[in-house]
This record gives sequence, C-alpha cells and structure tokens, in this order.
Amino acid sequence: MKQRSLAKLFTALIGGLSIGAHGSPCGSCPPTYSTTEPLLPKANGPDGGFDGGEEPLDCNAACNGSTLSCRKITVDGGAPLVECIFAESCGAGRRTSGQSRAAGLGVDEYGAWLAATASLERQSIHAFSRLARELTSLGAPRQLVERVRVARSDEVRHSRRMTRLASQRGARPAPSVRVPRERRALGRAIVDIAIENAVEGRVRETFSALLAHHQAVHATDPMLALAMKAIAREETSHAALSHDVHAWLLLRLTKTERARVRHHVREAANKLEIDAAIDLSTETLTLAGLPPPAVSHALARAMIEALELDRG
Ligand SMILES: [Fe+2]
Ligand SMILES: [Fe+2]
Repeated sequence: MKQRSLAKLFTALIGGLSIGAHGSPCGSCPPTYSTTEPLLPKANGPDGGFDGGEEPLDCNAACNGSTLSCRKITVDGGAPLVECIFAESCGAGRRTSGQSRAAGLGVDEYGAWLAATASLERQSIHAFSRLARELTSLGAPRQLVERVRVARSDEVRHSRRMTRLASQRGARPAPSVRVPRERRALGRAIVDIAIENAVEGRVRETFSALLAHHQAVHATDPMLALAMKAIAREETSHAALSHDVHAWLLLRLTKTERARVRHHVREAANKLEIDAAIDLSTETLTLAGLPPPAVSHALARAMIEALELDRG
C-alpha cells in the first residue's frame, strides 16, 4: 500500500467530518482517573513526588504501592488527603504480545496523557524489533525488513520527543513490562505474527496515524502540533508498511489460517470503533488536538469502511 494513498485518505476523512464543538467526553477508552486516599505519615518520603510544590511525597507509599503520581489536597480544612493521578494510553499504536498497557504519570491530565503516549511509542520500538527479527527468520525480502528497521528508528525518535514534551509538564512514562526473553525468541507461528501485525498495524497503528494527522492540524499546544507533523508522516509510513507485511505474510498461510487472521481483524475493528473516543477533558483534547468523542467514532468507522477492515 502506498503511503501517499493513505495520507490522502486520512486528509479526506478528517476533512469530511465536522470538527465542531467539543462535547463532553463519553467514550469507553479508559480515562485518566484519580483516587483520593487519607495521607498517611509514611507518604512523606525523601524521594519526592508530585506534591504541587509543597513537601515531598512518596507516591508509591501514598497510593498503595502503585506507580501513580500524586499531590496533597485538603477538603474544607479537613485532614490532608492525597490525590493519586493515573492515565492509561488511549492511543492506538503498535504493541507486541507480553507488554503491559502503556501508562503515564503526571501532575495534570494533559501531562499524564503525553507521558502515556511516550510510553506507547516506547512499546512500539520493541514491537518493531521483534517483527524485524521474525521477518528475517522467515526469509522476507530485505527491503521489507529494512522498512521495519526504519520504523523502529522512527519510534525511538517519537518516544524521545514525547518523553521530552511530557517532562516539560512534570510527567513521565510509567515503566513498562518488557516481553520476557523466552517469549521474544524466534519460533512464533507465522499465523500469530500475521494476527499481531494485522491487529496492531493494519487496525490500531493505522488509526493512530489518522489521529496524528488530526493532531498536527488541531493541537493548540504548538510544541505538540510541531511534533505531530513529523510523527503523522512517519506513522502513515508505518501504517502502509503494516499493510505490505500483511500481504506478504498472507501468502504463507493456509486457507484456515487466513480465515483466523480475518476474524481477528474484524474483532479489532469492532473494538476500535468502540474504543475510538478518548475519555479526556475538553481541555486536554483541545491541547492534544484529539477529536471529540463523536468525531472519533465517526473517523474510526469511516477508516474501517474505507480500508474494508470490517471484512477482515
Ligand atoms: Fe510512533
Ligand atoms: Fe508507529
């Protein structure tokens, strides 16, 4: 698939949908959320935490051992409380099996979202490393493997850039769980590689590229808009790559295996349509240039239909 054709499709899809008033977020993608706990003495630790500029907090101790950011609050002059803030990545990037969900830690929702996005970019590095090794072992054309390696390098840059933007807002990516060495070893069945590429690449990463185009134009955070211009172009090339890897892998599958891949793609497409709306505040959606929920749903549906992902 040609990168230019995909880019044209994305521009047409975004242009064809209203980007009117941001409604209240109502999507099913896990939101940034916070919990409030009593502030125990053990939470005042030497390591420091996100405490709004007051005395340091040990967020791990304050938030029941979870790796959450936190800040001290008081309500109506009562006993001090700690608010634990957590964000999961609602982005649709490429991951590989065995990884935990991407997450970010931050003092505010936008910072946590930036950090979660950086975490997802970091996961994509490992996904492409693994794919390059597997395609090499399967005897894939050198040019195809080289494109996967280039995509990996792109993800390194994306991860660094998003981490930098997150750190400027006092946020950082949560440590992610690496795929255990034995699970990264070669020897996965071709059908499993094809399913992962189809779901993570043809469906999720392709939607991620579409969102990146939207963000490059609509992000009101000028630094993010600038970053997204480059990221949108590169993510589109990753999306095109995933479709080409898919075509090469399909030729090596039996009829039954191809049916399995189609089934997983249909499932992923249905799930994407449900998950497309990102449940973040209007302020964060605006800063990040993400579409409001109704537009996200419509973009996902339009992309799925245009690329016939609902047919597998
Ligand atoms: Fe990326
Ligand atoms: Fe990517």
